Amino acid sequence: MEIFRTKSVEQSIRDTEDPEHQLRKRLTATDLTVFGIGVIIGTGIFVLTGTVAKGLAGPAVALSFVVAGIVCGLAALCYAEFASTIPVAGSAYTFAFATLGEFPAWVIGWDLLLELALAAAVVATGWSGYFASMLASIGIPLPESIAGANPVVNVPAVLIIAILTAILVAGIKLSSRVNLVLVVTKVAVVLLVIIAGLFFIRAANYTPFIPEAVSTPRVGGLNAPLIQVLFGITPVAFGVIGIFSAAAIVFFAFIGFDIVATAAEETLEPQRDVPRGILGSLAICTFLYVAVSLVVVGMQNYSQLSTSAPLSDAFRAVGHPWLATIISVGAIAGLTTVVLVLLLGQTRVLFAMSRDGLMPRALAAVHPRFGTPTRLTVVIGVVTMALAGFVDFEELAELVNIGTLFAFVVVSIGVVVLRRTRPDLPRAFRAPLVPLLPILSVLACIYLMLNLPVETWLRFLIWMAVGVVIYFGYSYWHSRTAAPVKGGR
Ligand code: ALA
Repeated sequence: MEIFRTKSVEQSIRDTEDPEHQLRKRLTATDLTVFGIGVIIGTGIFVLTGTVAKGLAGPAVALSFVVAGIVCGLAALCYAEFASTIPVAGSAYTFAFATLGEFPAWVIGWDLLLELALAAAVVATGWSGYFASMLASIGIPLPESIAGANPVVNVPAVLIIAILTAILVAGIKLSSRVNLVLVVTKVAVVLLVIIAGLFFIRAANYTPFIPEAVSTPRVGGLNAPLIQVLFGITPVAFGVIGIFSAAAIVFFAFIGFDIVATAAEETLEPQRDVPRGILGSLAICTFLYVAVSLVVVGMQNYSQLSTSAPLSDAFRAVGHPWLATIISVGAIAGLTTVVLVLLLGQTRVLFAMSRDGLMPRALAAVHPRFGTPTRLTVVIGVVTMALAGFVDFEELAELVNIGTLFAFVVVSIGVVVLRRTRPDLPRAFRAPLVPLLPILSVLACIYLMLNLPVETWLRFLIWMAVGVVIYFGYSYWHSRTAAPVKGGR
């Protein structure tokens, strides 16, 4: 069927050479690793660690990070193989086009737009919170109406997106330099937490390491996790099960390594360097996460951890408020790069979709001087500003998890398909144990998806249904890949 027509790998690569739609190749393996760390370390470690240790896993939250890290590692190996075979902007969208066909590619592209736009807006709102509290601590409180818990317009969030959009327009190399400075600050702060925190660890805080499981009141209706509704499982907190439930939440902390693949087309030697960037950034972040979480639950009893700023508040609790302030600054730097790279990833996915005609092709024009898709970057900036400025996204954050996990499932399946359909292609990086590894990856992702609430599933399905309507109303008719069959329409 036409809608399952694939775009050959060769065609994808040829499209990148079209002078009007050519991105500038500037990035190295180090740039990509820094991009990866830039987008991975953020709200997850700076905020969620406290919430899940306190409510679900206790000191064993460190093991939840290990579990989520393993799930991501399986998917990362699949992403690495794909990126080394098809070094084209668009990540999972492009991979799906090469293996499963145009319609599945559209579905995944549409899904990525949800993941990235929402994630950028959510993290920008979090950025605004940290920024406002830092200004307040130096005696410049911002009015509630522009930066409070329920602002009329979240002005700091809008401004940070505007600034980052301008940087993205100005060029990929500038973006990667700004990112580098901020990532160095963020990693330095994370290392500070680990090293300084070691001095305040009390062994007593580690016992029990896995607190005894307790039944939690059944969450009903749309808030119940799908797994509970489907299998009638009684929800528990703590214990071994708690470690896994917490893993489904701290998964958010790992989101981003997949975005490294969206910059493949701007990489000097993508076949070699994109796998290095993906796996390197994931490995470094997993190590840091496990270390940070072990230190924080050692500093303070898990039941006393703060849920809004657990890292800095742990230092406040041991009597070092100045260290807490430094950590807040690191968190602001950290969240800035997350938003920057999420926006970058989003522009590259939309770029690939527009270049293929599934979105208006005019959007994919590359600016002659900056070498970036200017028009599209501005459009995305404005939409994300509107989302972050006016909508309260707190509860929509889980949609980001489901969207990402869905993309991981498709990419993992895609690796197996491409090995079958195009065994001849050169693969600079080969994932080990195919098909076992991709199958495990799919199962692990589905398990985490089942742990998300019914409401999240419904919202996700509605978004996807809108995507299907747009595909058959517009994209199908304007696709360049299938144009000859449809008489060039
Ligand atoms: N991984 C990113 C974060 O933790 C999205 O904020």
